[in-house]
Amino acid sequence: MTTNETAASVLFTRDARGYDDLRRRLIPSFDEFYGTAVKLIQEWQSGANLEVLDVGAGTGLFSAMVLEACPVERLCLLDGSSAMLEQACARVGPKVEVELHHADMAVADLGGPWDLIVSALAIHHLSDEGKRVLYGRIRHALKPGGLFVNAEQVAGPGAAADQRYQKIWLEGIRRLGVSDHEIDKAAERMLHDKCASVEDQLCWLRDVGFSDVDCSFKAWRFAVISGRA
Ligand SMILES: C[S@@+](CC[C@H](N)C(=O)[O-])C[C@H]1O[C@@H](n2cnc3c(N)ncnc32)[C@H](O)[C@@H]1O
Repeated sequence: MTTNETAASVLFTRDARGYDDLRRRLIPSFDEFYGTAVKLIQEWQSGANLEVLDVGAGTGLFSAMVLEACPVERLCLLDGSSAMLEQACARVGPKVEVELHHADMAVADLGGPWDLIVSALAIHHLSDEGKRVLYGRIRHALKPGGLFVNAEQVAGPGAAADQRYQKIWLEGIRRLGVSDHEIDKAAERMLHDKCASVEDQLCWLRDVGFSDVDCSFKAWRFAVISGRA
């Protein structure tokens, strides 16, 4: 662990080995969830070689999908876990020149301006105020017309919905063969989750100046939200 690692990132460093293997089984709607996020990017992209930032890139899972789908000239991966970034570098490094940014997204310099900023399952580790501030910084780090896509774990509109999401998620991942030990480890990581509702997050995106704000996919606690700078 280095001083840049946040409490959430420490657990991702611990569980970095085997992360990719488990990912598909921990997200019952995996293909549609990431697939919608990639489709949004394909619908928007102009054909030019893109400069892309991935916030909370982890092992580069989402970035690798973006690379498959679009021409990317420059890719920066930002994450608080060095072990996750090492795996990301091995995964996407051969395909594109990649910059690794080991930092806390709450305070990191986002650089830019970027054509595209993506994030998956990461921003929910920040407080609601932290998310709002980050959305504003992301808006300012984008080129005019640039796109932000956040494939995210979200809260329900109330406690009853959250209980429903939890029950349906547990049923889904058990069906996919996730063991009790893996569920315990995921639950420990999820203690750091501070999920916000889709409704709130769409408002925050509009408040900081994004246009064409939308939720293109939602299946229980997994949603894809986006906006244009
Ligand atoms: C569930 S993983 C998602 C990784 C990847 N985006 C994906 O789709 O598989 C969450 C990632 O967010 C990172 N993370 C959590 N809090 C962070 C923070 N404050 N700053 C930077 N990275 C953070 C963790 O280290 C971890 O790699």
